[in-house]
Formats: sequence, C-alpha cells, structure tokens
Amino acid sequence: MLLSSLLLILLLNIAQVHSKRPNVLFIIVDDLKPALKCYGDKNAHTPNIDSLARKSFLFNNAFAQQALCAPSRNSLLTSRRPDSTKLYDFYSYWRDTAGNFTTIPQHFKQNGYYTYSIGKVFHPGKSSNFTDDYPYSWTTRTFHPKTEKYMNEKVCIGKRGEYVKNLICPVITESQPLGTLPDLESLEEAQRFLKYKKHISERPYFLAVGFHKPHIPFRFPSRYLDFHPLDNISLPTNRWRPSLLPTVAWNPWTDLRWRNDIKELNISFPFGSMPDDTTKKIIQAYNSATTYVDDLIGKLLKSVDNNTIVVITSDHGWSRGEHGEFSKFSNFEEATRVPLIIHVPGLSKRQILSENLVELVDLFPTLVDLSQVSGPLKVCPKNNLNNIICTEGKSLAPLMFDLAEGKVSQGKKAIFTQYPRPGPNPTSIPNSDKPKLREIKIMGYSIKTIRHRYTEWVKFDPRNFTANWKKVYGRELYDHLIDPKENMNIVDNTELADIVSSLRKSLIAGWRYSY
Ligand SMILES: *[C@@H]1O[C@H](CO)[C@@H](O)[C@H](O)[C@H]1NC(C)=O
Ligand SMILES: *[C@@H]1O[C@H](CO)[C@@H](O)[C@H](O)[C@H]1NC(C)=O
Ligand SMILES: *[C@@H]1O[C@H](CO)[C@@H](O)[C@H](O)[C@H]1NC(C)=O
Ligand SMILES: *[C@@H]1O[C@H](CO)[C@@H](O)[C@H](O)[C@H]1NC(C)=O
Ligand SMILES: *[C@@H]1O[C@H](CO)[C@@H](O)[C@H](O)[C@H]1NC(C)=O
Ligand SMILES: *[C@@H]1O[C@H](CO)[C@@H](O)[C@H](O)[C@H]1NC(C)=O
Repeated sequence: MLLSSLLLILLLNIAQVHSKRPNVLFIIVDDLKPALKCYGDKNAHTPNIDSLARKSFLFNNAFAQQALCAPSRNSLLTSRRPDSTKLYDFYSYWRDTAGNFTTIPQHFKQNGYYTYSIGKVFHPGKSSNFTDDYPYSWTTRTFHPKTEKYMNEKVCIGKRGEYVKNLICPVITESQPLGTLPDLESLEEAQRFLKYKKHISERPYFLAVGFHKPHIPFRFPSRYLDFHPLDNISLPTNRWRPSLLPTVAWNPWTDLRWRNDIKELNISFPFGSMPDDTTKKIIQAYNSATTYVDDLIGKLLKSVDNNTIVVITSDHGWSRGEHGEFSKFSNFEEATRVPLIIHVPGLSKRQILSENLVELVDLFPTLVDLSQVSGPLKVCPKNNLNNIICTEGKSLAPLMFDLAEGKVSQGKKAIFTQYPRPGPNPTSIPNSDKPKLREIKIMGYSIKTIRHRYTEWVKFDPRNFTANWKKVYGRELYDHLIDPKENMNIVDNTELADIVSSLRKSLIAGWRYSY
C-alpha cells in the first residue's frame, strides 16, 4: 500500500508538470440505483454513462451510509457518518448541531478552486441552512432551476386529460410550467458555466451538478418511453416480503401512496402489494427517467475538457418491487447500493472494474488524493467532533492505482449503513419511512462483509444519540453467496450462531475496526 501510494504520487506529479491541476466534475443523480447498462442491467438504456464508464473506474460494491437524501448527502459531502453529522432526517444543520465540519467543495475552495453548485447537490432547506452551505462550500451562490417548485404540483396528465399529481408522469416539455423541466435548466446552466468559466476565473473548478430524476414523481419528456417498451420490462423475481423479516425492517413506501395514480389502487397499509402491471409501469418510468438523465449527462460531458476528474454517483438506491417494496428508507441492498463511476484523466484509459467494498464517505479523501488539492486527509480521531477536517472514510486512490496496474487490492473488510424508525411496526403517523429526530426510538445498524449482511435494530435515544445494544427489536442475516437478493433471513439458524456473534461484534465495534 505504501509503495502504491508513492507510485501514485509520482504519477500525479508527472501529470502536473505537464498540465494544470485537474478540474473536478461531480455529478450526483437523485435516487439512482445501479440500473445502468454498464452495471449489467439489461433493461437499461444509458449509452452516455456507459461510454464514460468504458474509460473509468466502476465500483460494483459501493454503498450509501443511510438511504435518505439529506443524511446521505451531508454524510458524503463531509465524509462523516450519520452518527457524527447527527442528521437522520431533514431538520438540522451540522455546523450548528454537530461540528463545524469541512465539506468536499469547501476544501477545494480553500485550496484555490472555483466551486459552484447546480441543482440538488446538498439537500435544500434546513439541513444545508437554506443556502446549500453557501458561502462555506461555494465560491458563488448556488443555482436552482426555477421550475423546481412545480415538482409536486398538478403537472401530470390524468386519465381524463385533467392535471393531477401522479407518480408516473411522462410529459410534453413545452406544455409544462415555463416550458421546461428542472434538469434541462440545470444542464443549460452547467453548459453556460463551462463555456464562460475561463472568463470568470483562471482557477481550476469543482463543479457539482445534481440531477433530480429519477427521483419521484417520474416527470420526464414522454419520448424517453420509446426506449422502454412495457413488454420488455422484467419484474423482479422476489416480489414478496423475505421470510422471517422483522416488521421494523419494512418500509411502507408512504411517499408513493398519496399520489393520485397510486391512491386509486386502494392498496392496504402497510403490507398490501402493488399490482404487477403497476410495478412494470413504475420500472418503465424509472428507466425512462434514467435515460433522460443519461441524455443530459452526455450533453454535459461534451462540454468538459480532458483535464477533468469526473464522478457519477447517487445518494442511495431505490426498490422497484423487490421484497414487495418501493423507494429507499431501508437497509436492504436495493436501497443502499449506489452506482459509483470515477474517471481519472491519464489513469483510466479503459474500464477498470472494482469489486471492493466501498462507501460514499470514501469520496472526500479519494478526490483529495486524485487531484492532489492538499496532502491526504487524516482519519477522524475517536470521540472528537472538533476536528473540522478529517475523514471517516478511506481513500480509494491506492486501490485505484493497484487496479490500474492489474493488481488485486484488498480494501475494507466491511461497510456500514443505518436507518432509524419511530417504532417496531410500520406506521403512517409518525411516518416510519422518515421519522423526525425526536420521534426516533430504534436505529437499524447494518454491516455488510464480502459474504454477509447483518442488521440489528436496537433501542436509540435521540436526545443523547445513544444506542442501547441490550434492547433489540429485530435482527437480520443474509448470506449473499447463496442469497444475493436477500430473500431469506437466516439469523435464527442455530448453526450460524458463531457467524452472527462475530458479525455482531464487528457491527458494534464500528467502521474503525473494519478499515
Ligand atoms: C467554521 O469553519 C470555517 C472555516 O473552515 C470558519 O470560517 C468559521 O469561522 C468556523 N465557524 C465556527 C463557528 O467556528
Ligand atoms: C445559518 O443561517 C442563519 C440564518 O441566516 C445564520 O444566522 C447562521 O449564522 C447560519 N449558520 C452558520 C453556521 O453559518
Ligand atoms: C425489446 O425486446 C425485443 C425482444 O427481445 C428486442 O428485439 C427489442 O430490441 C427490445 N426493444 C428495446 C427498445 O429495447
Ligand atoms: C378503490 O376504492 C374506491 C372507493 O371505495 C372505489 O370506487 C374504487 O373502485 C376502488 N378501486 C379499486 C382499484 O379497487
Ligand atoms: C487534451 O486537450 C488538449 C487541448 O485540446 C490537447 O492539446 C491534449 O493533447 C489533450 N490531452 C489528452 C491526454 O488527450
Ligand atoms: C442516554 O439517555 C438515556 C436515557 O434517556 C440513558 O439511559 C443513557 O445512559 C444515556 N446515554 C449516555 C451515553 O449518556
């Protein structure tokens, strides 16, 4: 590892003699699971992302720290886990409530980069102090599309041609408010920035672009449906609740149920199942919205020069009928696994596949090392939230350099995710999909090793952010070697008691001990 780090530094130094410091283009796609052709999804049509992936590192086992927008984004951008940002909902700003942690763009800004945010990068609102963390993170005020505010309005066409609030919402762009859509506005702004950047500043840039789709509602130009005929959509094979699943693990997809087209199906709460034909339409709409974003990413990449590190990732995954569930809000693979593609000029001339376990908290130290914006980040000391610049992740750069040389590299032994609940059963009030901090009574902590996922749902006190490992509400164990889709909870199998006990120990010890 020491040797490869040295080689990497040498390589990057050589690169720097010949050119300027690299730009960084950070693309985050809202709620995008790896439903991409380059990740092996046959139903996907994503030629532009695939084409970038052919000259990039593709991480096949990348995970978010919590399957909810604001906690995941604040965690990724500060390289701290939700237990350190103390954000599990949408309603606190870490600088005021946890610690004055430095973010990725802030670090680039403080080291001479011009940093700019377009669209949804930070989750807007309280969790980024209503400013997307400006001025700390960004050189100039952030850009939000004007049409963002119509997101949940009556802008979809109903059965009788009336305007409704649907989940599935293909549209004719010209007929939408202001004749456009949020992601089209964001693309235009990014192209404008890239065209005029050299007139604004000679500094290298860190440009973050956050696309809204395929987040629901699935509002996208209807022509993208052409790439996804309904007959070609295959349903997940596991459209039922895993056997012996504790109820606390179940997320009742509350964010779908209130929309006009889903509401009229009268699906019973919380366990009633979605009709198969609707599940197919949801997958079709998700894939179409993804093709739409892929198209925009293709246009964006055309404006980027060759001295740019490009990252494409997401804040978490999305269930599309697997386990009979929809949306995020859980610790399942479907909700926590994300695409992660990193293009490094000069280093990734072909596709380099990594099966290593990696986490979104790893991105900050990785981007620091790849761009050499500063010396490497230190690992955050235990029980010390006063350190404003450090990482709870691990740089992927040494691993990437090994892989580029064709060597295997070990990486982390495990990754960690978590999800809170207000009680042991799915409820709509309080909303068990997204409890507010004061409502949280249980935390589901989850560890994934190369072979297993083990999850334990334990009592949690939101006043002092403390888990009580003695009070357990549910446990799950999946063996990914024989059950990659997590259909069988085998935690009570007595033959596996030793495995459970060892995973439990690692889970309680936490990420520092699986580093
Ligand atoms: C937080 O850190 C920034 C720079 O990293 C500094 O400008 C600011 O004063 C700090 N705020 C507090 C309250 O310490
Ligand atoms: C957050 O915003 C409020 C209101 O604008 C402001 O008073 C406060 O200083 C901000 N917090 C930080 C840490 O900048
Ligand atoms: C749909 O499936 C058919 C049969 O497998 C195939 O020939 C066709 O290319 C597919 N269409 C699209 C748009 O993927
Ligand atoms: C749902 O319930 C409403 C009101 O009870 C009824 O009119 C409608 O036919 C039901 N729809 C379905 C799909 O069962
Ligand atoms: C990058 O682009 C510049 C200017 O267009 C060109 O001179 C240079 O050869 C390119 N470098 C690579 C590695 O493609
Ligand atoms: C957190 O609060 C609970 C009671 O609300 C208490 O039992 C527990 O000891 C506290 N934990 C710590 C670490 O202070």
